[in-house]
Order: sequence, then C-alpha cells, then structure tokens
Amino acid sequence: MRDPSSFVVPLLLLLLPFYFGGSVLYLVSRWVLRGDEGRRQRVLKSLAEAGYRSQSGDPRLVGFFHPYCNAGGGGERVLWTAISFFQRTEPDVVNVVYTGDVGVSKEKILANVKDRFNVALDPRSIHFVFLKSRGLVEDSAWPMFTLLGQSLGSMYLVWEAITQLVPDLYIDTMGYAFTFHVVRLLCHIPVGAYVHYPTISTEMLKRVRTRTAGHTNSGSISSSKLLSSVKLLYYRLFMFCYSRSLRKASFLMVNSTWTKNHVDAVLHHKDPLLSVFAAPLLYLLPADGQNWELSDCSIVYPPCDTSAIVPFKLEGRSRMIVSIAQFRPEKDHPAQLRAFAALLKSYPEYRDLRHVVRLVLIGSVRNHEDEARVAALRRQATDLGIENQIEIVVNAPFSLALDYLSRASIGLSTMRDEHFGINVVEFMGAGVIPVVHASGGPLHDIVVPYEGGPTGELCTGYHAASEEEFADCLHEALKLSGEAEIQMRSRARKRAVDLFSEAEFEKGWAQTCKREYYA
Ligand SMILES: *[C@@H]1O[C@H](CO)[C@@H](O)[C@H](O)[C@H]1NC(C)=O
Repeated sequence: MRDPSSFVVPLLLLLLPFYFGGSVLYLVSRWVLRGDEGRRQRVLKSLAEAGYRSQSGDPRLVGFFHPYCNAGGGGERVLWTAISFFQRTEPDVVNVVYTGDVGVSKEKILANVKDRFNVALDPRSIHFVFLKSRGLVEDSAWPMFTLLGQSLGSMYLVWEAITQLVPDLYIDTMGYAFTFHVVRLLCHIPVGAYVHYPTISTEMLKRVRTRTAGHTNSGSISSSKLLSSVKLLYYRLFMFCYSRSLRKASFLMVNSTWTKNHVDAVLHHKDPLLSVFAAPLLYLLPADGQNWELSDCSIVYPPCDTSAIVPFKLEGRSRMIVSIAQFRPEKDHPAQLRAFAALLKSYPEYRDLRHVVRLVLIGSVRNHEDEARVAALRRQATDLGIENQIEIVVNAPFSLALDYLSRASIGLSTMRDEHFGINVVEFMGAGVIPVVHASGGPLHDIVVPYEGGPTGELCTGYHAASEEEFADCLHEALKLSGEAEIQMRSRARKRAVDLFSEAEFEKGWAQTCKREYYA
C-alpha cells in the first residue's frame, strides 16, 4: 500500500488556488470597505450642506442600481415611485442612485422625473453616483455572446459603483442580477431586486436543446448539430450562474405572474451534471444558503397612470367593440374578424339597423408588412360579408384612441399568451368590458374576479379561447343592461385602477423590502 502522506502534497497543491483566491477576495473587500468610510462621510456632508437632516445621526444608504435612470419607460417609473415611497416613509434614508447618465445634472434628472411621471422628489435625500462604463452593458458592445458580455459588463459597472460609494442595502431595478455576486462578495450587504424580465428563461434553454428556431435562436444555429451543442453548453452555464445570482438576493419582486413563473423556474433550476463540473465556479458563486420557496418572490405590479381614462362616463355607451393593438401577427386580428362574423351569424339581430354593432380595430402600422396585413384584413372582412360593420383606424393619435375608448362598450383582445396586456388594462380603466383570450396576463393578472358590488357579483370581463367562445362572450357582454352593466363596468375600472395604483405598489414594497434589510 502507498504511503498516505503521498496524497497530502497533491491535495494541498490542489487547494492552493482556492486558498489564494479566498485571500485575494478578502483583501480586495477590505480595501473597498476601508476606503468607503471617508467617501460616505463626504457624501453625507455635502447632502447636509444642501439641507439634508438625519434624525438618527447615523443614516442608512439604500442604493438603487439603475444605469439608465434618465430614460422614460415603465422601469423608470418603478424606480422613482419606490424612491418617493422611501422618502415619505423613511425620511432618514439616503437614496443613492447609480446611473450611467454622466453629463446630466441631478437637478435635470429630477426635473425630468417630475415632467414625465409627475413624481416630485425631495433632492435633499437623493444622491447620484455617476458611472462612466455604461457602454459595457449595451447590446452593441457585444456582437457575440451578448448575454454573457453584458453580464460581465454589469459586474464591472457595479465595481465602478461600489468603489465610489457602498450602500447599506443594494437594490437592482434593471435586471442586472450578476452584479449581486460582486456586491455580496465584496461589500457583505443584503441585495434585492425588482425584476421586469428574466435575463434567460428555461424556455430559451429548451428551444436550444430541442433545436427550435426562433427569436433568440437563429435558423443557422438550430440547423447545425455542432453549433447547437456549443450554444446549449453556453446557455446551460449561463443559466447556472444566473440561477445562483438570483438566489443570492434577500428579496425579489417581479412585475407580473408571467415574470414570476419564469423567475421561479430559474430559482429552482437544477443542472446536476454542470454542478459537478463547475465546482470551481461554485466556490466563487456560493448561493448564500437562502432556501427559496415559491412564495418568496412576490408579485408587485408596477404603478400606472390611469388618470386620463377614469373620468369617462360609464353610462350611455354605444354598441361598439374596440380592439387596440399594433397590426402584428401575434395580435391575431384575423381571429377578431372571424369571431365577429360568428357573432353576426348566430345573432343576426346585431345587423339590424336599430341594434347595429360595430367592430373598430385601432392600431399602429410600422412598416410594409403591417400595411399588407391591414389590406388583408380589409379583404377578409369583405369575404366574411361584415365590411359594413367594420372600421379600421390606422395610426390614430392618442387623443382619438381615447375618444373611442370613452364611447365603446366592449374591448376585444385575441392575442394568445400575452405577457401582460396594457391595452386590456386601458379597456378596463376606461370602463370598457374586456373580452380577452384565456391565457397569459389577461387571464392571470388582469381580468380576474374582483370586489363585488351590492349584488356580490365578481366578474370583470370574459375569457374565450375559440371563435365560437369569443362570439358567445361578445353576446353575453352585449346583453348586459341597466344596473348589471354599470356594475360590471365599474368593477372592471376599479380592478384596473387598484391593480396599478401607487398604494398597492407601495404595499408590495413595504412587505417585501423589509426594514430589517437597511435599518
Ligand atoms: C413587466 O416587464 C416587461 C419587460 O419590460 C414588460 O414587457 C411587461 O409588460 C411588464 N409587466 C407589467 C405588469 O407591466
């Protein structure tokens, strides 16, 4: 038998890189944190000079990583509404925004927030940290291996952030989960995130595995066996790291049921084979031992401004069905025409001049393909013999769309598996009864039973899957009258308003981002 001590030396040699890796991490972390003391005091001093007063004398810093904070999208509304909530409920907290908008002043950014979102923030408890390397997270910087490139880029970007100022709580509001590793390893502070969209989903992985061509998988790759295997390995590795990133979070919020399902799938994704081969990676990317339960990732719907549509009167609507959707194939406008034709066939009285029902399709046309689709829809209407009761409105200004919404009775949406469906929310906010495809956001998030009125009725609209079902639902909705009709419209409106109200959003934040993370 060999002398057991002969194993010791190779074993020690094998452990050496881990030992050095650990020491280097430790030293870098010490260096970042030590330098931070002075930087934090300087920031607090400059804020104090501008009028900020801390009650406790030891304010907490909540950091929001949002490299595009000066943009005007839904993600930015989430960011600013959250900060406004912190300002009202935690006046002592200093809100730090990490952004790549170098060259834009704090005053200018806050003025834009007021203009775009009508959110007024107190500049005294906000501090901006400007990041120069935002280019690293842009698609254009990474023509190949974009996902990986952007993720590595974000890790560098957050390094730039924490070497300027380390917060007490780190919140990513833009979907850069790979930054969690850097923050956890070097700063030892809790991290959390508001997720709009998963960076990679188990479905994308499945498409590569089964070699299905599609949006994220071009035909040239799906048709080659070798390229598919390479891509699969790349995606698997990426998923492995992404899943470990998300599991480092102390709390996660998602913007819808769709996103929750995807994020949950990522959190619970297992790749046993990779776990064995990626042992060195495991060492660098420990999952922090948090045991994620399905209920841990909470849905917090983004706030949404419904003020333009809620004043519309609920009474006296005309017998008009509207559809508001871009003329894109997935919106399935042909199904709307077929459903309408089926309705007129089963209930010929809707052709009668006294009760005539009209269908209005409103949507934007971006290019020749869209134009061709509109022309095809007109032909289809003629073929179905319903052209007299159809109106197609192309590229209507917002005000005209609002005018239709204020008069219509029913809103129609036929898209299958829509992630969300903001158009359906607009129907409901406007008091228009939604008739929607029984799938995706409209089924799970939006058109769901809601607070009953005096009659205890809960329904806020109708779901259908086939043309016949759509026709039946349209008929049901058209049949409503008197008190039942008004009740239904007002429930739908209440659902839309409450779902996206700032109050609901803030409740979600207060429940998920608990004080213990930063107090
Ligand atoms: C969630 O975010 C995604 C990506 O921005 C968006 O497509 C979706 O509509 C959002 N959902 C809600 C409820 O706003």
